[in-house]
Amino acid sequence: MQEVHRSRCLSYTVFATLRLAPGLNRTHHPMPETHRFLEACRRQPVDRVPIWLMRQAGRYQASYRAVRAQVSFLDLCRSPELIAKVTAAPIEEFGLDAAILFSDILIALPAMGLDLSFDEAEKGKRGGGPRIGNPVRTRADVEALRLPDPRRDLGFVLDGVRAARRALAGRVPLIGFAGGPFTVASYVVEGGSQGFARLKTMLHADPATARTLFDKLTEGAISQLLAQVDAGAQAVQVFESWLGELSREDLEEFAFPCLARIARALRATGVPAIFFATGMGTHLGPVGQLGYDVVSLDWRTPLAEARRQLPGIALQGNLDPTLLLGPRETLLARAGGLLEAVGHEPGYIFNLGHGILPSTPPENVRALVEAVHGFRPRP
Ligand code: CP3
Repeated sequence: MQEVHRSRCLSYTVFATLRLAPGLNRTHHPMPETHRFLEACRRQPVDRVPIWLMRQAGRYQASYRAVRAQVSFLDLCRSPELIAKVTAAPIEEFGLDAAILFSDILIALPAMGLDLSFDEAEKGKRGGGPRIGNPVRTRADVEALRLPDPRRDLGFVLDGVRAARRALAGRVPLIGFAGGPFTVASYVVEGGSQGFARLKTMLHADPATARTLFDKLTEGAISQLLAQVDAGAQAVQVFESWLGELSREDLEEFAFPCLARIARALRATGVPAIFFATGMGTHLGPVGQLGYDVVSLDWRTPLAEARRQLPGIALQGNLDPTLLLGPRETLLARAGGLLEAVGHEPGYIFNLGHGILPSTPPENVRALVEAVHGFRPRP
């Protein structure tokens, strides 16, 4: 732990030096030198608690629905101009403290040889969702998966990072992201949002094949994250949304080693690395050893308890997204409770415990941002 800590501090020192030297920045865009979101990731004191929201660009916004009336979700993810516009919109609308690249954790699957589509949500029917026409079921399927080369295969994502940095013009930092190997594998193996039984059976029945699949997805996540940082992402988040489906044995055997590998690969970049997963309340010890700067948790884990179990790591989260549906007084009371519990010490970023829901009233988002910015951490 001590060792991990020291190397992290060292990389920050090196990074800080790079940032001070004119012309050495890896991008030519203005960089918010001491933005409160980046400071909080590094557990430095902040004037106000920073807030951003997972899925902050999405269907609850009229501006997003207007873009989506013109283009499909995948076409949106493949247009750098639209990526920039949609990424910057929630900053302009709500004054959030960080922007997250508009893309998807499944965006590299076509380059790996998978036939990815998104069903359109229809009124009165189940919401739209990802579908993979040729899911991965056998050893041969896993071996046939290509490793994507981000510069060759995902240029539109990297151009989207650059365009988003230009659109943000230094107002707030840009977060890049990738999916964690278990969560991406669940879509790849099941063929969509169809549970976890096939993937978990693969872990138990054919662990060597599962390990090869996880290794490929881990390599893919690392190359995408490093390419996004190189293109200008100022922090990155790994989305391992469904990790809580796994037992401790399977976490330790399959998922944690891959997640630690991703964290190690990111350390050399100097940008803060955030780890998000749900259902980790009983696994905080091992989660704290993975090597991330920030751990983002869902609402099932009280953050004050996580604070005690994760010394030396910044926390992000964890308001229940349904609170944004109302009533307003309960939303603000619960947000206030969270801020009092963990907002006075450095190293806290306000967020939801999972993505914002499409039925969220935008005025509640505005009220939440105002309340978080109105809170004053004790000096
Ligand atoms: O957070 C952001 O604003 C950045 C963009 C982003 C999206 N997806 C946009 C999106 C991010 C970071 C993601 C991550 C993602 N994608 C995850 C992990 C986070 C989580 O929510 O658990 C997962 C599991 C996916 C896979 C995925 N993409 C699903 C299951 C769906 C369908 C469900 C849904 O919400 O419609 C998507 C589609 C998707 N990704 C949408 C958006 C805005 C909706 C597309 C639309 O209809 O316009």
